[in-house]
This record gives sequence, structure tokens and C-alpha cells, in this order.
Amino acid sequence: MEVLRTVAELRTWSRAQRNPARNDGGNTIGLVPTMGALHGGHTALIRAAAASCGRVAVSIFVNPTQFGPNEDYARYPRSFEADCALAEAEGTDVVFSPSVEELYPAGPNFPIATFVEVEGLSNRLDGASRPSHFRGVATVVAKLLIAAEADRSFFGQKDAAQVAVVRRMAVDLCLPTEIVVCPIVREPDGLALSSRNRYLNPAERIQALVLSRAVRHVEALAIAGERRTAVLIEAARQTFAAEAEVRVDYIAAVDWTTLEPVEIAALGTLFAVAAWVGQTRLIDNAILG
Ligand code: PAJ
Repeated sequence: MEVLRTVAELRTWSRAQRNPARNDGGNTIGLVPTMGALHGGHTALIRAAAASCGRVAVSIFVNPTQFGPNEDYARYPRSFEADCALAEAEGTDVVFSPSVEELYPAGPNFPIATFVEVEGLSNRLDGASRPSHFRGVATVVAKLLIAAEADRSFFGQKDAAQVAVVRRMAVDLCLPTEIVVCPIVREPDGLALSSRNRYLNPAERIQALVLSRAVRHVEALAIAGERRTAVLIEAARQTFAAEAEVRVDYIAAVDWTTLEPVEIAALGTLFAVAAWVGQTRLIDNAILG
């Protein structure tokens, strides 16, 4: 497995893999964008990429433009050596790990002038409490997809609003990359895997289970036939009320494409929650069927 640091190197690698003059006939390129601190959620994406693409690139880049001024950019977990070992074991061909200066050449104090703004969607769900977060996500994902010239790029349903933003961006910009979404990977007790789970102390780790409990409860109600989202949201609110230490950010039932609230749950309705457990903000969701 190679580690590449520059856009030029990544693009050269990608074009060489795809070149049909190679004696293996050329390959499709799968890209898995990550911020590192890899866990089972990330490795599931890498496995999905390896299963459907001839070559797999994993990007590891803690993207400063998607963090707010009071967020955890500086203390975001970084574990590059372990990440590379995990990525390689799952079949990654190339890790792309650029410096901040490589992707934002004018330097963090003099931000780039061109951003990708997915209007409307970016202010909903996580975007409502994290202004400019999705602008940073859309911008860096666009840069990564263009740099890698990826045929497919793999994202987790865990970050469901991010999926909606990235899908819309790919359509609006006519990007030649298929966006593939993979299911949420959970701990045995239900907690959705997240790099931020490592911030939780033992008491918070238990409190954090309220997110998956609320989502599972709502899923069960929906399966039993309850489709009024006001009722589903209230049921989740009551589940959260039992865990007084946890502060709800949002509980929402929305159309997964537009992120607009819906009153009656239908196929493809996204039920999503976000909550603060101590200093850590966690999210979870289910697609109601
Ligand atoms: P990061 O949080 O590292 O997540 C990288 C990818 O892994 C995302 O697509 C995310 O949805 C997926 N993922 C995380 N936890 C998961 C879980 N428990 N099950 C399934 N998939 C999971 O999301 C980002 O990085 C960044 O915003 C990024 C897209 C890389 C842009 O900087």
C-alpha cells in the first residue's frame, strides 16, 4: 500500500490504474473519504469499495473547514500509523493523506476563495447547529473526488445529512462519481461507531446508548404502523427524557433527499437524532421503510 501526499500524485496514480493499456485492462477507482481514527464503520466502507472497484483509495484528512471555531478540530483523534495498518488489511491500495497546505494552499489564515455551498440542505439537521459545517464538507469532498477522479465514492448512512448534501452536490456539479451509501455499523449494544466515541468517559458511554434506543424505539413504532411523525418524535423525546444528563440537539423526521420535515413517514423518510453527551455531540438515525 502506498501513501500519497499530493493531489498531483493521487491523480497520476488514479490515471495509471485506469489506463486500459495496462496489462490488467484498467480498473475502476473507489474512494473512501475519512478523517482518520478509523473504526469498523470506516472499514465497512473500505470493504464495500474493494468489493466493487478494481482499486481503492482511502483519504485521511482532518478537514479544518468543516469544524466551527469552538469545535474539536485541534483535539480530533489522529492515529495515522494504526489507520494505515487497518486500511491496508482491508484491501486499500493507496492512502491519500495531504497536508492542510496541500488542499488549502493559501493557508488556513487566508482561506481559499471557492467553496461548494449546497443551498437549503446545508442549514438543516446538523447544519442548523453547525453553521458552515456542510460547506466545509461539500468543498473538501468535491476536491477529493476531483483529485482522485473516482468512479465511486463510499459514505456511511451514519452521517445521513452529509449523505444528502454530498448526493445533491454530485448531481448539481455533474460529478462523474457514483455516490454509494453503506449501512450504519454499531457496537454490540447498539451504539453507532464514531471516532468521537473515544471522548466518552464510562458513565457517558452508558448514557450515549439513549440515541440508539430512541432510534430503535421509533423504528419499531413505524414498523408497527405508526406513521405520524409528531407521534414518532414525541416517543423519541420521551426516551431521551429518561436520560436527564443527555441534551437533545434535534429529533427530526425528514425527506432524506431534501431534508425537509415530513408529517407522515413514508418509504425513505429519515428519522434522525443528535444529542450532547457531556462535551461530545453524537448522532444516529434510521431510514423508515
Ligand atoms: P469521518 O467521520 O471520518 O467518516 C468517514 C465516513 O465513514 C463517512 O462517510 C461516515 O458516514 C462513515 N462512518 C462513520 N461512522 C460510521 C458507522 N458507524 N457506520 C457506517 N459508516 C460510518 O464523515 C467524515 O469523516 C467527513 O465529513 C468527510 C466525509 C471525510 C469529509 O471530511
